[in-house]
Amino acid sequence: MYSKSLLSSSSILFLSLSSVFADSCQWDTLHGNPTKLVGHRGEKAFMPEHSYGSYHLTAFEAADYIEPDVVATKDGVLVVCHDEWLSTTTNIASIAKFANRKKNFVFEGKYTTINRTDYYIHDFTYAELQEVKLVANKNFPTRPTYFDNDFSIMSFDSYLDKIMNVTQLFNRTYGIIPELKSPELYNSLFKSANGRWFEDQLLAILEKRGFFTNQPGSPDPVMGEGDLLNSLLNIKPANYVKPNYLRAAIQSFDPETCQYLATKTKIPIVALDSATPTWYTPKGLDHIATFSKIFSPWKDLMLAGPQLYFDLTKVAYNKTEIKEMGGFLSAKDLVSECHKRGIELSPYTFYDSRQGNSLICSSPTYNTTTFPFCPKNKKDEFFYFFSLGTDYMFVENIFEAQVLRLAYDYNLRLDGDF
Ligand SMILES: *[C@@H]1O[C@H](CO)[C@@H](O)[C@H](O)[C@H]1NC(C)=O
Ligand SMILES: *[C@@H]1O[C@H](CO)[C@@H](O)[C@H](O)[C@H]1NC(C)=O
Ligand SMILES: *[C@@H]1O[C@H](CO)[C@@H](O)[C@H](O)[C@H]1NC(C)=O
Ligand SMILES: *[C@@H]1O[C@H](CO)[C@@H](O)[C@H](O)[C@H]1NC(C)=O
Ligand SMILES: *[C@@H]1O[C@H](CO)[C@@H](O)[C@H](O)[C@H]1NC(C)=O
Repeated sequence: MYSKSLLSSSSILFLSLSSVFADSCQWDTLHGNPTKLVGHRGEKAFMPEHSYGSYHLTAFEAADYIEPDVVATKDGVLVVCHDEWLSTTTNIASIAKFANRKKNFVFEGKYTTINRTDYYIHDFTYAELQEVKLVANKNFPTRPTYFDNDFSIMSFDSYLDKIMNVTQLFNRTYGIIPELKSPELYNSLFKSANGRWFEDQLLAILEKRGFFTNQPGSPDPVMGEGDLLNSLLNIKPANYVKPNYLRAAIQSFDPETCQYLATKTKIPIVALDSATPTWYTPKGLDHIATFSKIFSPWKDLMLAGPQLYFDLTKVAYNKTEIKEMGGFLSAKDLVSECHKRGIELSPYTFYDSRQGNSLICSSPTYNTTTFPFCPKNKKDEFFYFFSLGTDYMFVENIFEAQVLRLAYDYNLRLDGDF
């Protein structure tokens, strides 16, 4: 099986690295470069997500993009956290002086629904939040807890400071890819004339940092730049570009936010989705192309294919309308039709191998016999998405993802048999 060992001999290692950098057009991604790895909430396989440590580790592991989710405090400071509340990723429940902040909160928007008893970030000032410590996400028991209580919640500004610092420290460019969480909620709490306080806050911060003005779009990482071994050995590819701080994309699940952002900035907009059937048709992609350069579907849509996925998960759609829009695309055609329109694909989220492959494939209703599209293991899963020509992947355990990407690349270039 493993007749050619990549790591057992340094000569093979260097042969592999230099060949890797020589030719950058063998991957089936839009630009022919390797799939870009996005550190999902930083590196949360080992560190509390969205912590200083998790961002540092993401950079050390040479992810191409480093993701923060963005929400707002009571005093209007943008901070990085996945949830609008605190109990899932912090020690808030153990801080007596904040006990009275716990409340039931209901918010119903077009794209945001919250109904939960918890401590809400928008009820705390930024200064108060500094007393709260991050812990491993409690929804994922496989994650180690040994860095619990070491870090505080960061502002979006200190996240950007951190990215600029690691850019210098590791001498390579990282993309920033903030996701605006629940824009309807924050725009209802903070009023502004155009009703787009949240989006405008983010853009103002990016503009001040030089990310914004007329940026022609985010360049691809240079071939080989993202390789972990390359980073560790400090080997630069021939076509290496020096760190420029300016690689960026902005994500949201709210299509109106995406559309608004697209009128305000040339930074590529990432349209996130798991439940809009009409988007997975040729006409749907024409529509997405009007505001988004990166389409980010829940990964099961690309495993099962859109139609089977929506049927299995009982998401309703209008058959006549879908037919009129050109019909559902297969997973493979979804990629090629996106690429035809200049759209890159960025499915989410690829967990580490302690956590299984995908929701649909770990559900008790489904198994690999009834659903042959389910990957056998993490390698199978990543290789399937690499072979489709997936442009970005949101990954946890970046080290594992790097090893799989290196092995796939090795197979492509050197006729290896990993
Ligand atoms: C919120 O959730 C509770 C408990 O599940 C439910 O009883 C209540 O009806 C929900 N409220 C709204 C407004 O959806
Ligand atoms: C970034 O580096 C500067 C200078 O070394 C330091 O003062 C600052 O605290 C660092 N910021 C972060 C967020 O790491
Ligand atoms: C960063 O990498 C570039 C390209 O290899 C090199 O020219 C430069 O000297 C490096 N800078 C530092 C500070 O190591
Ligand atoms: C389904 O879509 C067709 C074509 O767009 C439309 O004429 C029809 O009213 C829709 N049916 C329903 C139940 O919405
Ligand atoms: C998969 O599910 C089918 C239908 O529920 C069942 O008949 C079959 O035994 C299952 N196979 C495995 C390997 O669990």
